[in-house]
Amino acid sequence: MEFSEVTALFKDDLKRVEKEIRKNIQSQISLIPQISGYLMDGGGKRIRPLLVMLASKLCKGEITDRVIKHACSIEFIHAATLLHDDVVDETTVRRGRETVNTKWGSDASILLGDYLISQSILLIAYDSESRTIQAIAEAAKELVEGGIKEFSSARKLSITEEQYLDIIYKKTGSIISVSCKLGAILSNADSMAERSLVEFGKNIGMAFQLVDDVMDYDSSEEILGKPVGNDFKEGHVTLPLLYLYRNSNSSFKKDIEAFIKNDKLTDEEFFFVQDKMREGKAIDYTLDLARDYIDKAKTFLNPSMFKESDYLDASFTIADNIIERHLATRPALNQT
Ligand code: FPP
Ligand code: MG
Repeated sequence: MEFSEVTALFKDDLKRVEKEIRKNIQSQISLIPQISGYLMDGGGKRIRPLLVMLASKLCKGEITDRVIKHACSIEFIHAATLLHDDVVDETTVRRGRETVNTKWGSDASILLGDYLISQSILLIAYDSESRTIQAIAEAAKELVEGGIKEFSSARKLSITEEQYLDIIYKKTGSIISVSCKLGAILSNADSMAERSLVEFGKNIGMAFQLVDDVMDYDSSEEILGKPVGNDFKEGHVTLPLLYLYRNSNSSFKKDIEAFIKNDKLTDEEFFFVQDKMREGKAIDYTLDLARDYIDKAKTFLNPSMFKESDYLDASFTIADNIIERHLATRPALNQT
C-alpha cells in the first residue's frame, strides 16, 4: 500500500479531524484564529491523528466523534510543541513558510502554543475517561521533559547515545506512542493489544526522529521545507554528529569541539562537516538504527493479534514511509 492510499482510507475521517480543528480555533480574539489558521494550513500530514484513528480501527473500533476529538487534541499538543520549539530553536522557516515566531513574534508563538494546550484539554474534558486524560497528560509532560533535556544538553559532546535516545523518545516517541494508545483505549482493546500498539508507536516514533536528525544533515531545503543544518548551527548534538565525533581522530575531534561552541557557524563549515559525515558513515549508522526501530515496531503488529486487513497494511506503510521520507529527498540532492 502507498502512503496516499493510507490517507485515502481515512479521507472522510481526516476531513472530520480538520473540521474539529477549525471549530476549536475559533475565538473572539481575532489573532487566535488568524495565527492558528496560518499554522494549521501549513501542510502537516496529521500523522498523529491518523495513528489515533488507525489504532482504533486495528482494535475493531469505530471512528466515533470521541475518537475525532482525541485525535484533534493530540494534534493541538503537537502544534503547541512546534510553536514553542521554534522559539527555543529560533527557527525562521518550517514547512516551506515563515514560522509563527518570525511572522508574529516569539510572544505570540508561545501564547498561541499555550492556547492550543488549553484547547486540547478542553476538547476531551467533557467526553473522556481518566485513562485517556492520563495518557495525554503523560505525553505532554514527557514532551516538555524532552524539550528541557535537549536544551540543557545543547553544545555538549559528552552526551551519550543512551541520553540522546532518551531525549528523542521523550520529545517525539512519547506522543506518537500515546496516539496509538489512545486509539486502543477508545476501542476498548485488551491490554495485550494496547501494549503492542504503545510499543509500535514508540518504535516508529524513535525512527521518525532519527530520520529527522539525519535529514538535518542529508537532505535539501526544497523538499524538507526548512533549512538543512539547523541542528548543527544551533549546537544540537544529534546522533549523526555524535557518531562522527566518537569515530574521528583527535585532530578532527578538536575541530568538531570548536564548531559546536561557535554560535555563528558558516555554511562552508556546515558543508565540510556534512561531507565528513557521509564519508564517515555517520548518516548510514543513524539510518541503520532507524531501520532497526522500524523492524522492531513491525514485530508488535503480529497477525495473531491483529488480523490481516487494510488497516494492518496501512500501519506497515506508515512505518516504511518514515524511512522513505529520507530517500525522497535524495533525487533533488543528487542533482545539486
Ligand atoms: C522538534 O524537534 C521538537 C519537539 C518534537 C518537541 C520539543 C518540546 C518542547 C519544545 C516542549 C514543549 C512542549 C509542550 C507540551 C508545549 P526538532 O527541533 O528536532 O525538530 P524541527 O527541526 O522540526 O524543529
Ligand atoms: Mg526545532
